[in-house]
Amino acid sequence: MTKSALQIARATYKPKLPKALKGSVQVSEGVATQSVADQEAIKKLFPNTYGVPLIQFIETGQSKDFPAVNVGVILSGGQAPGGHNVISGLFDGIKRLNKNSKLYGFILGPGGLVDHNYIELTSDIIDEYRNTGGFDIIGSGRTKLETTEQFEKGYEILKELGIKALVIIGGDDSNTNACVLAEYYAAKKYGVQVIGCPKTIDGDLKNEMIETSFGFDTACKVYSELIGNIQRDCNSARKYWHFIKLMGRSASHIALECALQTQPNICIVSEEVEAKNMSLNDVVIGIAQVVANRAAKGDNFGTILIPEGLVEFIPAMRRLISELNDLLVANANEFAAIDKANQRGHIISKLSKESADIYASLPEGVARQLTLDRDPHGNVQVSLIETEKLLSEMVAGKLAQWKKEGKYKGKFSAQHHFFGYEGRCAAPSNYDADYCYSLGYTASVLIANGKTGYMSSVRNTTAPAEEWIAGGVPITMMMNMERRHGEMKPVIQKALVKLEGAPFKTFAAKRDAWAIDTEYIYPGPIQYFGPSEVCDQPTKTLQLEQGK
Ligand code: FBP
Repeated sequence: MTKSALQIARATYKPKLPKALKGSVQVSEGVATQSVADQEAIKKLFPNTYGVPLIQFIETGQSKDFPAVNVGVILSGGQAPGGHNVISGLFDGIKRLNKNSKLYGFILGPGGLVDHNYIELTSDIIDEYRNTGGFDIIGSGRTKLETTEQFEKGYEILKELGIKALVIIGGDDSNTNACVLAEYYAAKKYGVQVIGCPKTIDGDLKNEMIETSFGFDTACKVYSELIGNIQRDCNSARKYWHFIKLMGRSASHIALECALQTQPNICIVSEEVEAKNMSLNDVVIGIAQVVANRAAKGDNFGTILIPEGLVEFIPAMRRLISELNDLLVANANEFAAIDKANQRGHIISKLSKESADIYASLPEGVARQLTLDRDPHGNVQVSLIETEKLLSEMVAGKLAQWKKEGKYKGKFSAQHHFFGYEGRCAAPSNYDADYCYSLGYTASVLIANGKTGYMSSVRNTTAPAEEWIAGGVPITMMMNMERRHGEMKPVIQKALVKLEGAPFKTFAAKRDAWAIDTEYIYPGPIQYFGPSEVCDQPTKTLQLEQGK
């Protein structure tokens, strides 16, 4: 691999560890835990892993001997900056327990475990990937580990390689599956521990004990740099409105964090749109009004942040999508036989009045996307809908109408952007490099202490790394029962943006000023070397959540 100058310099970075993980570690166990909801149902489903205590590591002077242990690791789901440091922290941790310990990586996600596709991760390999972005050390995948056959197939290779613990690095769904696997292996007395690590740029795997998922920090900083650059361009040319869609799946954490970092003219927060039961038209009018207000003072430019999941949070759009799913699945052949020019009219004639009106108001391209792009279950792939174009077209229509009515006199010209993949594999910020290394190291200590069904937890991360608190949280503690594909299932609660939380409240208090004035912030690129206030700042979300 040919390396850039930055990569070479960055390889020498030594991630900071909490004090408790630096020396010999003692385990302090708290009281028994409960799931966040549906306690009886979760307890029944996880009789071997439910109710175990929270764990905190404390530094102790006495060193202890540990037997060598073989560990497996899996990267699951979308890439997030810092994954390689979780693996290097885990590697260094198990080697410190006993230098004869071994680490095996399963290739391309959970599928690698089922298909027995793996490599041994030696120090030569690990050293190549320290502090780098990406998941390419072993690759990632989205195979769901959920059936008994998969668990048994996995166990075959674990047994063959003498693996006593498996670390699954993933989001809420992957960690839910890690917990089910931990329970299964515990019930079968297979002697394999399963530990989870909280990953996702989306920032929606968090709770009292998991302050943030790794990758959120770096990804938001990359997007904020790009948004800042666009804002500077926008404020220089003064002729475009930039509609910027940001990844994040359902939750709006990324959009909100980027807004706090860059102060755009508008940031839509899906959770607020849903709470206020807003229609698509309400959202469009809200944007058009800001455009018109700025135009009235001669500013025909601006920036708008749009969360990826917006469409699903507009209640009437959600109903439309659900009707379309049912309609097109039930009448797939009939629909395919209708010529393209008449498909839209046909659909309108079959929908309820409310959905038909919305569908008829959509721009042609988006209406088509809603009928064409479907996932293997026959559902609309909402993430493929170009919401940024949908909104700008509808805003243009509204402004044209207002112009005719004499309510608007400006010029409106739009540019569109979608930021997601640009940030998922960036070289981890110092925060993510340190946090991830600590998460991996923590997993090794949980393994050494015989724990299973736990997630690595590193807290107090707005303080200097020395003071971070490391330990483990029972995954069952984060679970509740939810309806998925028509069945009640135990799942980790997804954390959406809280409208009563400090990050949203801070944004809401300032957004009117940002809308009319030009108060852009240009954060610039992530800095890996330099003063701590430039290099080590956690996200605004985390700082506000922790009252900093
Ligand atoms: P995870 O939940 O797996 O971490 O996914 C993060 C994410 O980047 C989402 O923000 C986005 O909607 C999705 O992955 C895109 O998936 P894909 O990589 O399959 O295109």
